[in-house]
Amino acid sequence: MKENISVNLKNTGDFVSGEEILALAQQSVRHLDALNAGTGAGNDFLGWLSLHDDILPQIDRIEKKAEHLRHVSDLTVVIGIGGSYLGARAVIEAVSHSFSSFRKGKHHDIIYAGQNICEDYMANLLDILNERDYSVIVISKSGTTTEPAIAFRIIKDHLEKKIGKEKAADRIIAITDSSKGALRTLSELNGYDTFVIPDNIGGRYSVLSPVGLLPVAVSGCDIRELVKGARAMAEITRNNHNSPTNPSLLYAAARNLLLQSGRPVEILAGFTPRLHYFLEWWKQLYGESEGKDGKGIFPASVDFTTDLHSLGQYIQEGQRMIFETMISVKSFSGKIVIREEKENSDELNYLAGKRLSEVNSSAESGTILAHNDGGVPVIRIEVPALNEYYAGQLIYFFEMACAISGYILDVNPFDQPGVEAYKKNMFALLSKPGFEEAGKKLRERLKH
Ligand code: PA5
Repeated sequence: MKENISVNLKNTGDFVSGEEILALAQQSVRHLDALNAGTGAGNDFLGWLSLHDDILPQIDRIEKKAEHLRHVSDLTVVIGIGGSYLGARAVIEAVSHSFSSFRKGKHHDIIYAGQNICEDYMANLLDILNERDYSVIVISKSGTTTEPAIAFRIIKDHLEKKIGKEKAADRIIAITDSSKGALRTLSELNGYDTFVIPDNIGGRYSVLSPVGLLPVAVSGCDIRELVKGARAMAEITRNNHNSPTNPSLLYAAARNLLLQSGRPVEILAGFTPRLHYFLEWWKQLYGESEGKDGKGIFPASVDFTTDLHSLGQYIQEGQRMIFETMISVKSFSGKIVIREEKENSDELNYLAGKRLSEVNSSAESGTILAHNDGGVPVIRIEVPALNEYYAGQLIYFFEMACAISGYILDVNPFDQPGVEAYKKNMFALLSKPGFEEAGKKLRERLKH
């Protein structure tokens, strides 16, 4: 039997007791029940709970479309922002070769756009697209989000000029609402193939829908394994009332008790750069789900050991308002052993015969103990290996824990009303029709 992801609470014991965590986890079973029964806040956004099953009829079509894009081009631009790109990027970077775009020979590159409005980024991207044979996946549930809409307008224009409108239409796939939004209208007008984001799935919970699965499949990763991993985690968490064996209940309870103990900041740490975008995906999931009504744990992230040489100082000795969650990967597949050297001028012979992963794992254990000594509790998420299957487990584990944690905090974990504030101001300042009055007021404010 395959091992599963688990939560290790050994290094929180000096700060909140195991009994307290188990007690809150057990009390939180009612939140699990509310999710399953659809009786809690945001109950019109619960499609993610069974997405690992509901997506199965679409897997063949997603794989075929991915194969088509890989066949007609050697690079795909994935356009989207927030939940419409982070999940795919998290999985692709966690499980693909770290330097795939530098490899010789045939491979398919993925580049991201529409997640910023930086002019230089776009200009540099167009330089690359001039030289490459590319396809486009444009993702927007609302179909009206400004950043991806602008990127798509520019890139669509570039592709049509490069290969003609008809050929471009064959290489553009849109993932959007089934009937609403500008992207749906554009797709119908231009004859793009489309996939649908169901109404009952919010952006940040959409990675196991075509939003995540199509880009992941185009990158060459195995989406069936990803979905299988998510299903395995759903079996462990969704109907499991026995909290000691339900990692999502344990994690949700532990982090809320650490918040109550005066630690409003959670830092998620990985000891491999491959997890960098997983940490970004997690920050969005937890930040947008919990940060509302004046509540929530602030989600931050660090890449260790890199950031031990920057933020490590603050974590060790700065203001005591932090707890850490470490994603602890047990085994790595690339075998690099440090060799003995006769001269030993770099004085590293004490490491001779050890794999790099052993050194990394000692760094991790040493860091946990040091941070504990500095007053920082550490929750450990133990992951057997970094591959599609465990990426799927991690996704479902974090989504389920996030929903439970939101209910513990008594917020709706499935909306994001605060995201609109900056958009309204930006539209007003850019004189979007309908925002003229607001624009005048903001310009006045900017004068002072
Ligand atoms: O989680 C969310 O709902 C958001 O982060 C959205 O995914 C993000 O704002 C992009 O929205 P859309 O897909 O409508 O372009």
